[in-house]
Amino acid sequence: MKARTAIALFSFAIVAALIATSMATNSTWGQRSRYDRLLYRTDVVRKSDLWRVISVDVEFPGKNSYNPYFITQVVAIDHKRKDGGYAQLRKGGPGYRNVTLHIKSARNHGLNYTVEVFGN
Ligand SMILES: *[C@@H]1O[C@H](CO)[C@@H](O)[C@H](O)[C@H]1NC(C)=O
Ligand SMILES: *[C@@H]1O[C@H](CO)[C@@H](O)[C@H](O)[C@H]1NC(C)=O
Ligand SMILES: *[C@@H]1O[C@H](CO)[C@@H](O)[C@H](O)[C@H]1NC(C)=O
Repeated sequence: MKARTAIALFSFAIVAALIATSMATNSTWGQRSRYDRLLYRTDVVRKSDLWRVISVDVEFPGKNSYNPYFITQVVAIDHKRKDGGYAQLRKGGPGYRNVTLHIKSARNHGLNYTVEVFGN
């Protein structure tokens, strides 16, 4: 392989990786039916912090509160078009009465998420 071709391929790979990691995506756990209600909705908005990854835990229900419903679906909407974050289901979720989501920003970027919890 000619060096120039190799460099071109290598650059392409880097650009592709940057694009792939900077796209914002929504995450959904479970399924909801039309009988389910919105149990909780919260916005998670944080400013960027130079060179940092911002992590936020979203807990439902909060400490000392009780949720009588079973969760069917958890949705994490990333409002950013690019440089989006990453949401992970840490505890509970569909089939449980509680849920903890862990949301991380891209390094050097803020967060703009809406988390919704449905259940019945
Ligand atoms: C995420 O969900 C929101 C609200 O439903 C929608 O406007 C947006 O296009 C979705 N983003 C992606 C990357 O699918
Ligand atoms: C977060 O996203 C919402 C919905 O797209 C938008 O109205 C709001 O301005 C955004 N906030 C920030 C700080 O970017
Ligand atoms: C959810 O509730 C169960 C018991 O019902 C408890 O063991 C667990 O620690 C709770 N998880 C969270 C994330 O609060």
